[in-house]
Amino acid sequence: MAYLEKLFNPTSVAVIGASRTPGKIGYAIVNNIISSGYHGNLYPINPREEEILGKRCYKKVSEVPEVVDLAVLSVPVSLVLEVAKECGRTGIRNLVVITAGFKEVGKEGAALEEELNQIVKEYKMRMLGPNCLGLMDTYTPINASFSANSPLKGEIAFLSQSGALCASILDWSLQKGLGFSKFVSLGNKADLNEADFIADAAEDPYSRVIVGYIESVVEGERFVQVARKASLKKPIILIKSGTSKAGAQAASSHTGALAGSDQAYETAFKQSGILRARSMEELFNLAIAFATQPIPKGDRVAIVTNSGGPGIIATDNVEHQDLKMARFTKETVDNLRKNLPLEANVYNPVDVIGDADERRYAFALNTVLADPGVDSVLVLLTPTATLDPLKVAGVIIDIRKNFPDKPVVTAFMGGTKVVEAAERLSRSNIPCFPFPEPAIGSLAGLVRYNQHRLEAKEEREYSFLGEKRRVADIFREVRDLDRVVLLGSEGAEVLAHYGITVAPTSLAVTPEQAATFAEEVGYPVVLKVASPKILHKTDVGGVKLNLNSSGEVERAFVDILDNVHHYLGNVQICGIEVQKMVPRGRELIIGMKRDVQFGPLLMFGLGGIYVNLLKDVSFRLAQGLTQREIERMIRETKAFTLLKGFRGDAPADVKSVVETIGQVAQLVRDFPEITELDINPLLAYEKGVSALDVKITIAS
Ligand code: COA
Repeated sequence: MAYLEKLFNPTSVAVIGASRTPGKIGYAIVNNIISSGYHGNLYPINPREEEILGKRCYKKVSEVPEVVDLAVLSVPVSLVLEVAKECGRTGIRNLVVITAGFKEVGKEGAALEEELNQIVKEYKMRMLGPNCLGLMDTYTPINASFSANSPLKGEIAFLSQSGALCASILDWSLQKGLGFSKFVSLGNKADLNEADFIADAAEDPYSRVIVGYIESVVEGERFVQVARKASLKKPIILIKSGTSKAGAQAASSHTGALAGSDQAYETAFKQSGILRARSMEELFNLAIAFATQPIPKGDRVAIVTNSGGPGIIATDNVEHQDLKMARFTKETVDNLRKNLPLEANVYNPVDVIGDADERRYAFALNTVLADPGVDSVLVLLTPTATLDPLKVAGVIIDIRKNFPDKPVVTAFMGGTKVVEAAERLSRSNIPCFPFPEPAIGSLAGLVRYNQHRLEAKEEREYSFLGEKRRVADIFREVRDLDRVVLLGSEGAEVLAHYGITVAPTSLAVTPEQAATFAEEVGYPVVLKVASPKILHKTDVGGVKLNLNSSGEVERAFVDILDNVHHYLGNVQICGIEVQKMVPRGRELIIGMKRDVQFGPLLMFGLGGIYVNLLKDVSFRLAQGLTQREIERMIRETKAFTLLKGFRGDAPADVKSVVETIGQVAQLVRDFPEITELDINPLLAYEKGVSALDVKITIAS
């Protein structure tokens, strides 16, 4: 049974705020429920009416002869809390609150929404909304919304944070002949949110693909967990708006949501196997491909075309989308050569040339689909006098039935000449695009999902048992000293408690103490000023390298203090750090920032002083981070090329880098008070790694 079974498939429904007046929302909802063919009991509730749309009307929901599975509220905002309470007392468990005037209108509305949510929790109810269009399920069937139309039956579960978008998409889908299993307007997501509906659709036998428009995610960490599990079962395609600064601001005022960074969203989507669409067009191109096509076994694409130009454009796109042009077997090539005209191209892309008719298309398509080296096919057509696009559509529809495991998409390029054929293809579950690019794009989506499913087995999070107590002690001491930024020596100690190899570092407050530490760790050493106020130590003469004796160390100590005072006057200094100089290695960076929605976001890449210039970095959420994911994170950067051994260098110890990232992930998961962390550089050697500079900031 799907997670929200009673919400989508209720045996009885009450509409509170039902109206007899056409044009009012309370009328539209009752009308939609009836006209969608709902089989269960429907109870309109209105204190002034006896009957609405042929259904007996009740003054209160508590007077209804049964406890309904679902109550849809369309009463004015001033009545919502009272009505919700009454529902709770009556024993109703599911609410859809259509009414607007909550979080989206500001502080007062937010307080009201909080109260509403409390009532929902108190009575153990679940609620969709408030401020939503409602929901629809074409298999129940029910349309419990005030939309202008009802969706066609299909296999796409659609969820949207914008009710208006729901209405437009619904209207558009009818014209396209596109069907849906479920259609949900999320509204303000005070209780149920995208994670709940993704979890529900993942279990729903009628939903083959989950598609959505979101402006924000409510429970970042839960969302990732749910989506990761769901994406192993079926594809999830989302478009997330508010990627620009202005867009993010607009989104937060739309439904009063707090937006996390777009980088965090990008990472969360990637890590949970969600395909992120960049435009509404791409969202539905992918939705249609997933709803109609099988998942291909591999990335090898064959193209059949009657013109060279579009064939080349499609071929370019295959490469741009990281797909491969299929290499035909000798048998296929011989067969094509024997049966196609001399001028035809028998290699991929197969060009059946300008005078082709539907029989030539049929032969070429049949032949390439039968080739074991072909995973999916794109058929391109440009209108010519020798062919009837409708007949070509007909042969494609027939042939595709014989190859149910291979996706077939088409691009019929033109206008009036191809429109009928394109429609026929679409209605026969063969996506037809006006140009090659979206056709290849949708094949790429299918392939990427297949790769995700193959790679993303349910794995355990990388874990490490750190010395939590000792780290907590360090943080307490730092806070007692009224600091939030740890000194390098303190940061090094924290890392060491989590098994990370650090260059030995101690804090000295006198020249003599510095010399003693240097003797202990062995020469050469480096001295660095330790001050939470100084970010760029080198710029103020705060670093002395390559010190080889106690005399040099003591002199350097005094010099550093002089330099810093010269540049910065009476700046707060906690002492001077003495660090053993370690051999040069490949310089990497591991960083962490905490995202408001998704928690700790880790960064890995090429380290050193050019980090910001080169921006060779990749990101992952610390939550749920598996070893395989860490390996992928490393492989995404150019730093990986250096680690593998560039131009004759011996390979570095990638395994130790993986472990270090895993240990950092554990540390930041264990200590939510760490707001920022940077290890730069982390030096990677042929054997092992060493963290050189560590900066940790904690919440005050
Ligand atoms: N129980 C049940 N029905 C009640 C009631 C109660 N305690 N008190 C009043 N009603 C009835 C009213 O009598 C009215 O029916 P009527 O047409 O027979 O008079 C009906 O409930 C609706 O109340 P009304 O005062 O007419 O409100 P409205 O229809 O103008 O507005 C909303 C109500 C919910 C539609 C409106 O407040 C709203 O929020 N609109 C925006 C919705 C929206 O945009 N949502 C987001 C979409 S994405």
